[in-house]
Amino acid sequence: MQFLIINGPNLNMLGIREPSIYGSMTYDDLVTSCLGWCHDVGVDGECFQSNHEGAIVDRIQQAFFDKVDGIVMNPAAYTHTSVAILDALKATGIPTVEVHISDVHTREAFRHHSYVSLAAVKTIIGHGVQGYQEGITWLADYLRAQSKA
Ligand code: DQA
Repeated sequence: MQFLIINGPNLNMLGIREPSIYGSMTYDDLVTSCLGWCHDVGVDGECFQSNHEGAIVDRIQQAFFDKVDGIVMNPAAYTHTSVAILDALKATGIPTVEVHISDVHTREAFRHHSYVSLAAVKTIIGHGVQGYQEGITWLADYLRAQSKA
């Protein structure tokens, strides 16, 4: 199985960006960890980060043509604004787990709504970077169960 891990805007600034909210792990460390977590559950992982909405839409579409099996995605600020990313996920139908490092539900009201949740098979909120591990593990189990059904 092939998984794509997508991180949206400002997540390349992990470790520098508001560490009291997002922790001290850098984006490079997160990539290394995500690839390791994919390996642990027997899937091939690839990571992609962009600060640009259209680039994320393009990457989701490419994932369809590349026959990617699952996406683990932290859309960051685009979570709360992007109908285009929601539509790309719906267009491709690739099972997607949405991850947020922080507990968006206890933060500003504008972070409480997620467009991406409307297409996600699961959403993991507020578990720090461990949320990516949970998402990768959950998605591998989910897709294996689906393929047996
Ligand atoms: C975030 C939460 C978003 O509201 C914010 O814009 C981010 C990161 C999180 O991982 O907690 O950039 O998705």
